[in-house]
Amino acid sequence: MQHLYDRPDLYDLAESPERFSMNKRHWELVFAGKRIDTLLDVSIGTGGVTLPLASLGVRLSGSDLSENMLEQCGKKAAAAGIHIDLTQSDFRDVAEALSGRQFDCVASTGNSLAYVPNADLAKALAQMDRLVKPNGYLYLDLRNWDSILRERPRFYLYNPMHRDDVRINLVQVWDYNPDGTVTFNLLYTFEREERIFQKKLFQEHYYPVPRSFLMGTLSALGYQKMEVSPYPAMASDKDPETMPWYCILAQK
Ligand SMILES: C[S@@+](CC[C@H](N)C(=O)[O-])C[C@H]1O[C@@H](n2cnc3c(N)ncnc32)[C@H](O)[C@@H]1O
Repeated sequence: MQHLYDRPDLYDLAESPERFSMNKRHWELVFAGKRIDTLLDVSIGTGGVTLPLASLGVRLSGSDLSENMLEQCGKKAAAAGIHIDLTQSDFRDVAEALSGRQFDCVASTGNSLAYVPNADLAKALAQMDRLVKPNGYLYLDLRNWDSILRERPRFYLYNPMHRDDVRINLVQVWDYNPDGTVTFNLLYTFEREERIFQKKLFQEHYYPVPRSFLMGTLSALGYQKMEVSPYPAMASDKDPETMPWYCILAQK
């Protein structure tokens, strides 16, 4: 089965000027009062979450496992006149890939840390930590896996997206596997004049991340000051137990 990240054009169907403004406002709120001039996102993908930071004056670097996603990120940055350094790397090896570099903030955006088992996630955080300047920050955003495992939601229907005369529908069905992992089945259907002419199925395999595991690992790495906010920060649900998606900004 083809992987969604081999189709950055499909991944980016949800991109819009509104989404750009939402992410820009999110960063303004989360970084308010902090001095962050340089940032590396170790799961930058096509840059939808991270590129808006350039309009706040942050110098950006990005890495990702997927060359296709990086290529699309590079094209979007160039079209917007944004300079960005991009490197292909697994975040579990990122300190070696970017050896000698340090940043005010090292980030992982888009729930990406849940792609690896929790033990590997701890290694990835240790690698990211090596790239953080003294007194710098780690920033992580993730789905609220504690509430997902409590509620076990199964179906997500997205608003239709349109490209030329084609309407694209996306539905997600989540399977809870006996080994504790969760598989997201993403079904895209493409229709013209109310008739489906193409279907594509992708699967994402996730390892739920308990927030206590994340915070315990950050604490063991020496991060004592941690701020938890919803993602996006403007979301009305500020309760860490129920917010569907959250971010942590931790200072070294
Ligand atoms: C859901 S996308 C998020 C992309 C982007 N951060 C965003 O929010 O739009 C997940 C990204 O994580 C990347 N990824 C998955 N496993 C990875 C790993 N082990 N190391 C680095 N990147 C990884 C994928 O290639 C993909 O680009």
